[in-house]
Amino acid sequence: MPGDSPIGGVGLAHPAPAGLGFEIRPFESRDEKAVVALWERCQLVRAWNDPHKDIRRKLNVRPEWFLVGRLHGDLIASVMAGYDGHRGWLNYLAVDPQYRRRGFARELVNHAERLLRAAGGPKVNLQVRSLNLPVVEFYRQLGYSADDVVSLGKRLESDTPPL
Ligand SMILES: CC(C)(COP(=O)(O)OP(=O)(O)OC[C@H]1O[C@@H](n2cnc3c(N)ncnc32)[C@H](O)[C@@H]1OP(=O)(O)O)[C@@H](O)C(=O)NCCC(=O)NCCS
Repeated sequence: MPGDSPIGGVGLAHPAPAGLGFEIRPFESRDEKAVVALWERCQLVRAWNDPHKDIRRKLNVRPEWFLVGRLHGDLIASVMAGYDGHRGWLNYLAVDPQYRRRGFARELVNHAERLLRAAGGPKVNLQVRSLNLPVVEFYRQLGYSADDVVSLGKRLESDTPPL
């Protein structure tokens, strides 16, 4: 199973905290439908970002760092981690609304941080929409703080089909 292979000294499959039944493992292709449905429930899908294309792109670069969290076999959480050789990045952190405030996102982020640390990444960056204050608060609780930067982006490929 891909989740069983340790990389950089850090096991990818993460045993659940006792009694919780929460398992973290790398994404597998059979998870795609459930992951996209989770992102939709968590309002992470935007018209300009095709989630299926985002998954395909991630599967080309450190696919084993695209993590899903399962509770008693149901896919209820996700996070995509990346490292560009300078900074680690987190994207698509999501926990099913039904299972929030039980520490599952904290577990996922801690797991991703262990992978980044083992790969030599000195800092994690991430972007949160400015109006998404609960998520900002979540990250603050995990030791993150706002950097004094303006986040800029430039689209290199459009995901929106032409009209
Ligand atoms: C952000 C998110 C992943 C948090 O998931 P979660 O499993 O509920 O988070 P945890 O239970 O691990 O929370 C850990 C701590 O963070 C803080 N926290 C979490 N959610 C919070 C909220 N809505 N408001 C304020 N603090 C919050 C709390 O201190 C919490 O500990 P506590 O429950 O003991 O008080 C979840 O709310 C989510 O999926 N949101 C929608 C998707 C999204 O916007 N993702 C971010 C993309 S950038």
